[in-house]
Amino acid sequence: MGRNIRGRHFLSLLDYSPEEIRYLIDLSKDFKAMKRKGTPHKVLKEKNIVLLFEKSSTRTRCSFEVAGMDLGMGVTYLDPGSSQMGKKESIADTARVLGRMYDGIEYRGYDQALVQSLADHAGVPVWNGLTDQFHPTQMLADLMTIEENFGYLKGLNFTYCGDARNNLGNSLMVACAKMGLNFTACAPKELFPEEALVAKAIAIAKENDCTITLTEDMTAGTTGADVIYTDIWVSMGEPGEVWETRIKQLTPYQVNSAAMANTAKGSIFMHCLPSFHDTKTTIGADIAKKFGITEMEVTDEVFESKKSMVFDEAENRMHTIKAVMYATLC
Ligand code: CP
Ligand code: NVA
Repeated sequence: MGRNIRGRHFLSLLDYSPEEIRYLIDLSKDFKAMKRKGTPHKVLKEKNIVLLFEKSSTRTRCSFEVAGMDLGMGVTYLDPGSSQMGKKESIADTARVLGRMYDGIEYRGYDQALVQSLADHAGVPVWNGLTDQFHPTQMLADLMTIEENFGYLKGLNFTYCGDARNNLGNSLMVACAKMGLNFTACAPKELFPEEALVAKAIAIAKENDCTITLTEDMTAGTTGADVIYTDIWVSMGEPGEVWETRIKQLTPYQVNSAAMANTAKGSIFMHCLPSFHDTKTTIGADIAKKFGITEMEVTDEVFESKKSMVFDEAENRMHTIKAVMYATLC
C-alpha cells in the first residue's frame, strides 16, 4: 500500500513531500505496465470527473479523458465557451455546484488563485491542469521520463533554458528541489523566477542535498547537464506583442547542437510540448514571415535527435495523471 493522499488537491508540487511524489511516480509506472499489458483497471467505475479548460490543450485534456475512461469513470469536458464559469458565475459558485455532481475537478486556466479558489470551495479533489504559475501534472510525467532514462533522479544535473519565470520554469525548479536534482535555469535576468519562489526552492533543495542555480551564461549553464529542457518563448495568455522582445531575449538560450555539445555523455533533451521547432504551424509560419526565424526554443535537429524524449514525456502525461486521480479518489 502506498501513502494515503485520498481527498487531497493537486495544485502544486510545493504541497507534496518527496515521499508522496515518489509514491505517485511509482504508481504511474504500475499503471503504465498495466496499460502496456492490456490489464483492465476500471477501478473507479462509480465516479465522475469534470474537466474545465479556460486555455487550449491537447496532451492534458486527452490524458485526463483517456485516464478517466481507463479507470472506468464518466468524464465531462467543458471548454471556455460552454460554461457560465467566470462570466455569469464566480469560480466559488461554480465549484460549489460541480462539487455536488462530480468526484473530482480538473482546471486549466490563468491565475493560480483561481484553481486555489476552486479547491477551497469544491469539497472534492481539484487537479491543476496548468495555470500561469504552475503545471504540476507535467512535473510528474517529466520526473518519470527522467527516471526511465537514467534509473534514478537524485544527483542528476538538470538545466532549463528559456523563460524561467513561466509555469514550467517555476514548476521544474520546485520539482528538482523536491526530488534531489541540481537545477540550473539559463535565462536573461529579467526572466528569472520570482525571488520569493527561488528562496523557497533553495530551502527545499538544501533539505534534499541539491542545488538551485540561476545564470545568464548559456555555456556555463549547459556544461555537464544530464537533462536539457526548454519550453515555448511566449506562453498561453500572453499578448502577441511580446513575441518581438521575447525572441531578442531568448535567442541566445535556444537549445541547438552547440548547447547539446556542452552536455554530459548520455544527456537527454526534454520539452513539455507544443514546440516551435519548424514552420509547420500557423504561429511558426507567421513568426518566420515577421522575424525571419524558422526555429525557436529548440532546433529541428535537436528535437528530432535520438536524445529527444519528448514523445515518451507526452505519453507519460496519461500514466501520471491516472495515478494522481486514482490516489486522490481511492
Ligand atoms: N504539455 C502540455 O500541457 O500540453 P497541452 O497544452 O497540449 O495540454
Ligand atoms: N508555458 C507554456 C506551457 C504549455 C504546456 C504555456 O503556458 O503556454
